[in-house]
Amino acid sequence: MGINDPVIAEQTPAEDFQIEQRWKKYTDEEHAVWRTLYERQIKVLKDRAVPEFYEGLNALNLNEGGIPDFEKINEKLMDLTGWEVIAVPHLIPDDIFFDHLANRRFPAGRFIRSRDQLDYLQEPDIFHDVFGHVPLLTQPVFANYMEAYGKGGIRALKWDCLKNLARLYWYTVEFGLMRKDDGFQIYGAGIVSSRTESVFSVDDPSPNRIHFDLERVMQTDYRIDDFQQVYFVINSFEELFDVTQQDFAPIYDFMTGSDKIYGLTETLESDHVYNVGTQNYAEAGGRFAKAS
Ligand code: PHE
Ligand code: FE
Repeated sequence: MGINDPVIAEQTPAEDFQIEQRWKKYTDEEHAVWRTLYERQIKVLKDRAVPEFYEGLNALNLNEGGIPDFEKINEKLMDLTGWEVIAVPHLIPDDIFFDHLANRRFPAGRFIRSRDQLDYLQEPDIFHDVFGHVPLLTQPVFANYMEAYGKGGIRALKWDCLKNLARLYWYTVEFGLMRKDDGFQIYGAGIVSSRTESVFSVDDPSPNRIHFDLERVMQTDYRIDDFQQVYFVINSFEELFDVTQQDFAPIYDFMTGSDKIYGLTETLESDHVYNVGTQNYAEAGGRFAKAS
């Protein structure tokens, strides 16, 4: 029966919610689902994801034919950046999650979706968590950002500003885009692990793509049940890391006082909006032009 069944009932998690992956328990069917998802996704991503993502995939041999064994991933990942992947039950408390990140442990679900849910499921499974998130943990700057985020999470809890910080995660780690030459490339795990959004996020003219702005992102609503209507675009992981190095305390202070939230389709005077498939996009030689 594999380990698709509810996890927690059969194994009480430790204080840090870590559970064993129990790799040997995966069934042939579960490994086959991974292979199907992997092959589909590689095809659809082509050069839509950032080169760093493919570097990570290759470095970790995530295509050995089935669900990866965390022990094997960790041998390589530890050497590269000192990160490791650990298995956790579906939901873990925020403070535990942040503590893991702050200590370079990435908490991942160990169950895999079933064949009739290939395209969508609400909870993150091992395909989303490992295929989506883990490759970029091989990249030093992104790896540092994730650790910093964990530390920032612990601080945000004290400020009661978790919502603001969660939006930063959403619009970077999950749904981030990067500028590349004449278009956009994906680095967000929520996109990279989704067959349909992989195409939509970089090719479709309808969503707004706005240059990353920390305070703007921290005040922008998001939806979890459909494609994003707005994506935030960075030039590089260095940019993301550098911008988030500043002390968020003053930002939190001002945000607790204001509770202003921007809507999903709203654009602001101060936004740098990238227009796709429009005249000013083409005129810039396929590069980007500020919306007028
Ligand atoms: N600089 C943030 C703070 O002062 C911490 C942080 C870093 C948060 C990176 C998110 C990402 O709280
Ligand atoms: Fe995720």
